[in-house]
Amino acid sequence: MRWSERQRAMLREMGIPPFWPVEAEPVEVPQAAAPSSMSPAADVGAGQPVAAPLAASTVSDPVSHRTPPTRSMPVAAQPVAVAELLDAAPRPARPSGIESMDWPALRAAVAGCQACGLCESRTQTVFGVGHIEAEWMIVGEAPGEEEDRQGSPFVGRAGQLLDRMLAAIDLTRSEDSATRQVFIANVLKCRPPANRNPLPQEVAQCEPYLLRQMALVRPKVILAMGRFAVQSLLKTSDAIGRLRGRVHEVQGIPVVVTYHPAYLLRNPADKALVWEDLCLAREVWREAKAGSAS
Ligand code: URA
Repeated sequence: MRWSERQRAMLREMGIPPFWPVEAEPVEVPQAAAPSSMSPAADVGAGQPVAAPLAASTVSDPVSHRTPPTRSMPVAAQPVAVAELLDAAPRPARPSGIESMDWPALRAAVAGCQACGLCESRTQTVFGVGHIEAEWMIVGEAPGEEEDRQGSPFVGRAGQLLDRMLAAIDLTRSEDSATRQVFIANVLKCRPPANRNPLPQEVAQCEPYLLRQMALVRPKVILAMGRFAVQSLLKTSDAIGRLRGRVHEVQGIPVVVTYHPAYLLRNPADKALVWEDLCLAREVWREAKAGSAS
């Protein structure tokens, strides 16, 4: 799709900063080679809860960027229901006492975690990066192929867009002050094979690590990106469209929700909505900063 002059003018009026490309970007190819027979996502799954029952969790979501399952996919990329059965084997328990761990203990616990089947397919865990006292925390969904290879969150094309979004509000993932350098983490610390949807039990096993990261960082605002991050953090089945535009709270920390950068790569017109969400988060951060200074 090419943008008309009128559409460009509308985007400019809506305050989309110039460093966000306004051209439609090529559709992101699923990270594991998907068979050419792959069908497009059916328009039926928006707002499915993260902890949805088995059958519902195999339904694809037009607002999700994740890979819809197909019958001819390799076992590791099979529909969620099959992956769920394969993961039924007993596993070593997750380490106890996560809620009181310090950074080194938490990092070690994540690195050695075998509490769900993703430990078998991962190259490495993706703990998170950034300032440990950051005023902003970005919460994504799960590592993809590139993140699994590099051990760092948001390093693929979606991550590059995230960096531009952060720069638009004067934030960075590079080394800087706690005011400008964010902390970035995912709900899942291991890559779901073939970019499939996270399973409810994977989210349940991994979530305490994220909650401890949030408690240790104590950011002034959290930006939750993408359906799985948003729904698992807020414990809701509501779609992002219903949740954005207001301030939520988790562990006493304000949470602003928005669409995932990978979704934006496919739907660049919605950058206008995400820009609104970033501005809301910046307002919340400014208010929290003013409150802590007085
Ligand atoms: N998408 C996410 O949600 N997190 C990553 O780290 C990469 C892609």
